[in-house]
Amino acid sequence: MRPEQPSAVKLSEYRVPDFLIDHVEMDVVLDGPATRVSARMSLRRNLQGRPDAPLILDGDDLRLSGPLEIDGRALPLSDYSVAAQSLVIPAPPEGPFELHLVTALDPAANTKLMGLYRSSGTYCTQCEAEGFRRITYFLDRPDVLATYRVRIEADRAEAPILLSNGNPESAGSIEGTDRHFAVWHDPFPKPSYLFALVGGDLAQLKDSFRTMSGRDVELGIYVEHGKQDRAGYAMDALKRSMRWDEEKFGREYDLDVFNIVAVSDFNMGAMENKGLNVFNDKYVLASSDTATDADYSGIEAVIAHEYFHNWTGNRITCRDWFQLCLKEGLTVFRDQEFTADMRSRPVERISDVRGLRAVQFMEDAGPFAHPVRPESYREINNFYTATVYEKGAEVIRMLKTLIGAESFRKGMDLYFERHDGQAATIEQFIACFSEASGRNLDQFRLWYSQAGTPTVRAKTSWDEAGGTFTLELEQAVPPTPGQDTKKPMVIPLAYRLFGENGTPLSVENSSGDGELIVLSDAHSRIDWKGLPKRPVLSLNRGFSAAINLQTDLPEADRLFLARHDDDAFNRWQVLQTATTEVLIKSVHALRSTEPMPDDAPQIEAFAAALAHTALDPALLAQLLTLPSEADLAREIGRDVDPDAIYNARLRLKQSLLAALEDDLRARYEATSVPAPYVPDAAGAGRRALRTVLLDLLTARRDERSAHIAYAQFVSADNQTDRIGALAVLSQIESRLREDALDAFASRFAGDGLVLDKWFALQASIPEAGTLERVQRLMQHPDFSLSNPNRVRSLIGGFASGNPTQFTRPDGQGFAFLADNVVQLDRMNPQVAARLLGAFRTWRALEPVRRAEAEKALRKIAESGSLSADVNDLVSRALT
Ligand code: ARG
Ligand code: ZN
Repeated sequence: MRPEQPSAVKLSEYRVPDFLIDHVEMDVVLDGPATRVSARMSLRRNLQGRPDAPLILDGDDLRLSGPLEIDGRALPLSDYSVAAQSLVIPAPPEGPFELHLVTALDPAANTKLMGLYRSSGTYCTQCEAEGFRRITYFLDRPDVLATYRVRIEADRAEAPILLSNGNPESAGSIEGTDRHFAVWHDPFPKPSYLFALVGGDLAQLKDSFRTMSGRDVELGIYVEHGKQDRAGYAMDALKRSMRWDEEKFGREYDLDVFNIVAVSDFNMGAMENKGLNVFNDKYVLASSDTATDADYSGIEAVIAHEYFHNWTGNRITCRDWFQLCLKEGLTVFRDQEFTADMRSRPVERISDVRGLRAVQFMEDAGPFAHPVRPESYREINNFYTATVYEKGAEVIRMLKTLIGAESFRKGMDLYFERHDGQAATIEQFIACFSEASGRNLDQFRLWYSQAGTPTVRAKTSWDEAGGTFTLELEQAVPPTPGQDTKKPMVIPLAYRLFGENGTPLSVENSSGDGELIVLSDAHSRIDWKGLPKRPVLSLNRGFSAAINLQTDLPEADRLFLARHDDDAFNRWQVLQTATTEVLIKSVHALRSTEPMPDDAPQIEAFAAALAHTALDPALLAQLLTLPSEADLAREIGRDVDPDAIYNARLRLKQSLLAALEDDLRARYEATSVPAPYVPDAAGAGRRALRTVLLDLLTARRDERSAHIAYAQFVSADNQTDRIGALAVLSQIESRLREDALDAFASRFAGDGLVLDKWFALQASIPEAGTLERVQRLMQHPDFSLSNPNRVRSLIGGFASGNPTQFTRPDGQGFAFLADNVVQLDRMNPQVAARLLGAFRTWRALEPVRRAEAEKALRKIAESGSLSADVNDLVSRALT
């Protein structure tokens, strides 16, 4: 039995709007449950639209207050029909006209956190994708671009700060009352999803930025009172982002002000509203005592991401939501490049690829797989995915690799010039690059339309007599929902050949593309001729193509590459691949009577890495981190037993410890140089290494291990070392663990953002008692089902961060998630639907767990009155 399907929106059915809105005058009276929004829209018929089409405005849960007016005259009731979800005027005036309407809202009752809502008392908005229709009836689609003037009025004590998009125009008191107003004007036409408004009592951090043409922009970051001193890093990141976009893409900021508001209840990471970004406070607030290095780098990346949207998303927006990757994939690419420039490029690449494989490759391999540009959706909120974002970014990176940096920059310039002020499509975007490079990109566009991660098999051979080295390549894209057969893709494989002592060889290959092989057929063969000796091949360097690569490299070549490859990414990859193979063999051994594999080569490789003292600690930390449980599950692919995977990893850590204890300890002690905390890449690298080493040093999980972790916990003078230690200690069943957890909780009581880490750590404990612990923690005074960050930390942390307990063979982990999804769905469908991501690979589980997962999914499906969000995902999961 499957729940009823909401009807699908299809890319092939796109139609231009029948009406356009050029300008909106809004008057928003913030007044608790009596909040009112007056909207005057300048409308006209779109000459490209259907000539006799009625005017249909979108609404969602709206209530009209007072009569509708056209050009200042009340419209007779018989001339329109109004419902909660739409407003229809069958015969509007032929020429341009002004429509005036007033809606009545109760922001505090808005628990979906879409539209106008309240977060800790602050009035704020979230409109992407379809939230503006929860504020007023509108043509709520991204290809309707209007200028806005917004007057906001509120009680001065309750909301001294009043913000909207654009530039401030005027402000003042309302005579004889305690109320005041502010007027904002945004001169740039924008789609309604970029609308934003904030009213509240907030503290402000001020700064300014001089643009490349010498204009001064006022910068403001608004946070809860008392938290101003945690906003400094975000401000710094903002200024660096603004400079970087000028230097790397020639993009200058365009308004007089740029404001960021941090709120504590937010469905996603942040939102790029024109001139007024609204952020989940997780991506703004940081101090050495409350935030980890990962938090700092998350802030840097998200601040940059939202800022970069000003050109890729706002100045040029999307024609429709199928084009979401046009702004998201491109903007993720831009923020990744920014981070690579700010920090270490190889380390950034490794961590981006780790993330891509852990989430996007998983998504691509299961029931939620969809193309980077989907062709149909039932609920657009479910398409803000790793595929659209992270794979979308990889597609841009492949494009750049394919056509070269220079043509790529030319194509970007052309795109900005040609489409500024427009709502564009992927076709228009790609056309800019084929023009700039002179290259036909038709086949490349399959990256946007074909779902699934391509697999490339590489076979090498050596003809000693002729001195010819041959590489045979074979590609295949697996079937995905709705796409049974696939065409060959364009796969750019960066490579290098190495000679005996690690010197790169410069020999032309038969395809003649320098150190790049462009695989575009199902099979292909490349020869290098005239070589004195068999070379060693380093392929898909820097992860130039987002594929699963299977090579037949002999053990000797791998050892060679681990030592000599001048691409740090591939040095890391070679070790990961070898470790993955050993771990998978161990998993099979643990589940059968086969003998355990020999891990001596892994021990040797780790020893070599540890001995390499000149290595960047951040890179060493990556080298010493085993493939994750999720990575292994994905590689195994079917009949997955999470307990066996967990045990295989633990056993390998224990053999590494047994063999390398002295080296590990020496290296660990060397990382604890007393230095004041600075959240820079160098310090972060050293601390990351410290925690990775601590994890290995405590692999015995005994009382002595607990003491080692506890010692770091109590002596830590920053949150990174403290949480690093607590994360390790959490994995050890010990009294010290509970002491440390209690100490942490009392120290940070009341600070939800910090306690999120504490919730997530406990949710990830791989022990049978964890489910009960999680249920107990849901009663904690700092937990709340209405706060998305808390839900994601505790419930999401359990479902996505605890493979052994979430998939308990008795099904209780699945059932727990199912119950919470159903309960949350009534309050906040987006947050509920997100949690279902934990089911993205349920069919790959071994039969007992798989049956339990299915039971839980069916239970959700049958629980009735589900949101479109949850309904869509559950039915796809079960298909
Ligand atoms: N555009 C935002 C970003 O920067 C994400 C907003 C998504 N919101 C939503 N309700 N789906 O990535
Ligand atoms: Zn974005």
